[in-house]
Amino acid sequence: MNLILLGAPGAGKGTQAFELSKILQIPHISTGDIFRDNIKRNTELGAIANSYISKGELVPDEITIGIVRDRLSQADCDKGFILDGFPRSIPQAEALERMLGESGRKIDWIINIVVDDDIIVERLSYRRVCPACGDTYHLKFNPAEGNMCKCGSQLVQRNDDRADVIRHRIEEYHKTTEPLVEFYRHRGKLLNVRSENSISESLQNTLYALGLKGI
Ligand code: AP5
Repeated sequence: MNLILLGAPGAGKGTQAFELSKILQIPHISTGDIFRDNIKRNTELGAIANSYISKGELVPDEITIGIVRDRLSQADCDKGFILDGFPRSIPQAEALERMLGESGRKIDWIINIVVDDDIIVERLSYRRVCPACGDTYHLKFNPAEGNMCKCGSQLVQRNDDRADVIRHRIEEYHKTTEPLVEFYRHRGKLLNVRSENSISESLQNTLYALGLKGI
């Protein structure tokens, strides 16, 4: 199954993609994670990406499209994949259709995770992440004991989870990414899934929408 998880910053794309990847046994591809990994390793791409991410702006389409093209050409994507955070603009969505078409593939479903803006701010402000294994926690909804990850590392707050940057990310989402909801609705593949309840209920909503209830 080839899936896209669409939704505002903090909607829960990463959290759900992590679980869906285990259930469906297909890779979870997060452009945000790829950028953060490059930032951590001080690569040239990381320096460029950081100059945008730290301000809550989108990394330019040509850079992001190239990264996804490379990743989707890897063998583990032959059996399916979950895209988390890509596409995020109409040009990215059009490029994705072209690159998949070239290899005889297509997207099966787009899961649009729907959450109100005030909930998003709370989810992002209290999010904590593990710099070692990438696991995600939440101070209220998914707390970690003693601010430590299960892998033993100290949790941190993401640089772009500061209040001023969160505001800008949400503005960018409404301006550039939200038009994708219409784009995919016209293609008849959009599944709207509300995610205002707990993490497990939200995941169940997604599984139900995909016809995978009971897993
Ligand atoms: P990226 O890492 O993709 O950030 P994002 O889209 O802003 O999404 P987040 O990771 O912040 O949130 P999420 O929806 O995954 O929520 P999560 O599951 O963590 O991208 C970062 C940056 O990279 C971008 O701003 C941009 O600059 C750049 N970038 C990336 N892709 C790009 C692209 N395609 N083009 C251009 N630039 C790009 O959940 C959030 C919190 O809520 C967690 O603490 C979690 O535990 C909690 N939570 C989740 N679900 C629930 C629930 N149902 N109930 C209660 N709590 C919940």
